[in-house]
Amino acid sequence: MAVEDLANTPAERAAGYKSNETGDFSDAKEVTVGGMGHIVILGAGLVGSLCAVVLLKKGFKVHVYERYQDIRSIPSAGRSINLSVTSRGLRAIKALGGSLYNDIVSNLTTKVMGRIIHMPEGKVLFQRYGKDDTEHNYSVSRLDLNKFLLNAAAEAGAELHFDHALVESSDFSDERTVGSCLHFRSRKGCLKVNAECPVIACDGAGSRARYALKRCGLTDFTEDLLTRGYKEVLFPKPEGDGFGAKGEDGSEPCDGTFGLHIWPRGDHMLMALANRDGSFTGTIYMDNEGPESFAAFSDTPEGRDKCAEFCKRHYAEAIPLVGGLDSLVSQIVQNPTGILGTVRTSKWSAKGKVLLIGDSCHAMVPFFGQGCNCGFEDTLWLSKHIDDFCCSSGQVSLEKCTDENIAKCFAAVEAERKPSADAICDMALENFIEMRDKTGDLKFQAMKKIENRLENLFPGKFRSRYAMVCYGGEGNVSYANAKELGLVQAQILERLWDSGFLQEPNAVDPKEAEKLIDQLLVPKQKELKIDLSTIRH
Ligand SMILES: Cc1cc2nc3c(=O)[nH]c(=O)nc-3n(C[C@H](O)[C@H](O)[C@H](O)COP(=O)(O)OP(=O)(O)OC[C@H]3O[C@@H](n4cnc5c(N)ncnc54)[C@H](O)[C@@H]3O)c2cc1C
Ligand SMILES: *[C@@H]1O[C@H](CO)[C@@H](O)[C@H](O)[C@H]1NC(C)=O
Ligand SMILES: *[C@@H]1O[C@H](CO)[C@@H](O)[C@H](O)[C@H]1NC(C)=O
Ligand SMILES: *[C@@H]1O[C@H](CO)[C@@H](O)[C@H](O)[C@H]1NC(C)=O
Ligand SMILES: *[C@@H]1O[C@H](CO)[C@@H](O)[C@H](O)[C@H]1NC(C)=O
Repeated sequence: MAVEDLANTPAERAAGYKSNETGDFSDAKEVTVGGMGHIVILGAGLVGSLCAVVLLKKGFKVHVYERYQDIRSIPSAGRSINLSVTSRGLRAIKALGGSLYNDIVSNLTTKVMGRIIHMPEGKVLFQRYGKDDTEHNYSVSRLDLNKFLLNAAAEAGAELHFDHALVESSDFSDERTVGSCLHFRSRKGCLKVNAECPVIACDGAGSRARYALKRCGLTDFTEDLLTRGYKEVLFPKPEGDGFGAKGEDGSEPCDGTFGLHIWPRGDHMLMALANRDGSFTGTIYMDNEGPESFAAFSDTPEGRDKCAEFCKRHYAEAIPLVGGLDSLVSQIVQNPTGILGTVRTSKWSAKGKVLLIGDSCHAMVPFFGQGCNCGFEDTLWLSKHIDDFCCSSGQVSLEKCTDENIAKCFAAVEAERKPSADAICDMALENFIEMRDKTGDLKFQAMKKIENRLENLFPGKFRSRYAMVCYGGEGNVSYANAKELGLVQAQILERLWDSGFLQEPNAVDPKEAEKLIDQLLVPKQKELKIDLSTIRH
């Protein structure tokens, strides 16, 4: 049985690889890095690479330690899933100035205009994200984005140390305000790095920095795994135009390339996003154990038969798109399973020694598509607080960048971000339940329509929770505040539903709706100092 460790990629899990090996550090080689104006970053994933670029622009000397080889030369390391990114996360990149943002948007992404829902009985419905084509999300390959950001970090002067896996025995507990002893395993053996500078841990959901902090009694965390996992399924370039929404039942049509495809099937579901070359990357989510599960669909004649039966019953329409039944079955029985879970961490920082950001302290289930956006937003707030505490005119100031100020900066980032990370972790789990149980539900669909209508009628005082989550970030539209306002908005929708006219969304009485909004929602927005006009794609 594969090891249930969030540090392992699906392929590593399939191979029974163990991330928790410790190694012998008794006579390991020792080096010292750091000093004033230096920073160590753990992990060269999406968040670590972006964080490196942010700090290099401020004049810091940045040392990055990454467990894998350089992904720019090895094409298939890690997970290859396509991500959906929204303006909330892209803001962190925009804030860097220069051409980075335009390069990413124009060279790496495809546009996603809304969800294309493939109903069990064969209907295909398009649910637009925004009010028109100018409001959309982006799909980007994780690998391409990671390579691009890593390249940007290298060009900006990062010192990159690949093949360095941080180990749990690393020590963050001594008296110093700044400084720690990092233990790394590599193919060349064990290495102790005495880091005489702050450490930013971006080492992902299975963060060994987090484990080390817990071992030192400096934090605590929970890892709640779903009993459901995922596998990637490639759709080679589908032929014809059979893949889009044709505009049935009065809904809008949408070209298949511009939608996030969802086949909601209750206990399992399939999703797919377009690639730039015309193929699609799909992800199938289902239970790990049970009668219809990844365990039941093993790579055996019986497993394949059961799986074929299952695909014909639930995903008949997707079979030709994936290149036929054999291809779909082979991918499901053979591709490695990924695990999904939520990580919650009680303390993200220890004095000026270390700060956890990104998945290392708040991994979430992927059903809101916000994990990477949230991690990118962490770097934006880190950037703001470093400017305040340690920089003059945006450049690191050796006078201001004292150990005490670094500690204050880390504490400020934690205070700002933790409530929001908790909120988006909760909302991502709620979305999981919503996509699983409710997407096909009539009341749910009517509520979505009415929400959309309220948004169009009163754009100045009502934005859907989706919009606040995906496109917020400024104007105090934090994840935490989006969650809080979302509760009030759900009350308003319920009240309108109860009063009966919601079954016909266009029949909403604007006066009645506005009265509820003014009574319940607007005061809350004032209290939280929310500026809805900042919500932009
Ligand atoms: C199926 C799935 C779908 C998703 N879809 C979306 C989406 O649509 N939109 C979205 O915004 N987010 C999505 N996410 C979440 C997103 O992938 C993560 O939030 C994001 O990758 C987090 O970035 P990170 O840099 O914090 O961690 P990672 O990307 O995991 O990077 C961590 C880095 O640290 C390295 N590392 C790990 N351990 C060590 C160690 N011990 N020592 C040194 N280095 C180490 C790793 O090799 C890696 O390079 C999805 C996630 C999954 C699983
Ligand atoms: C990426 O896009 C920019 C436009 O922002 C363009 O000038 C540049 O040449 C592109 N780079 C590559 C590698 O295609
Ligand atoms: C999605 O991922 C695949 C690899 O899994 C990649 O080939 C493709 O280009 C990605 N899509 C986009 C939009 O970049
Ligand atoms: C994109 O935006 C919409 C709402 O605006 C949201 O429903 C969706 O979850 C976002 N992200 C993904 C993963 O498509
Ligand atoms: C933003 O919202 C928080 C509550 O989440 C509130 O405490 C704070 O005062 C608001 N901040 C600003 C700058 O208005």
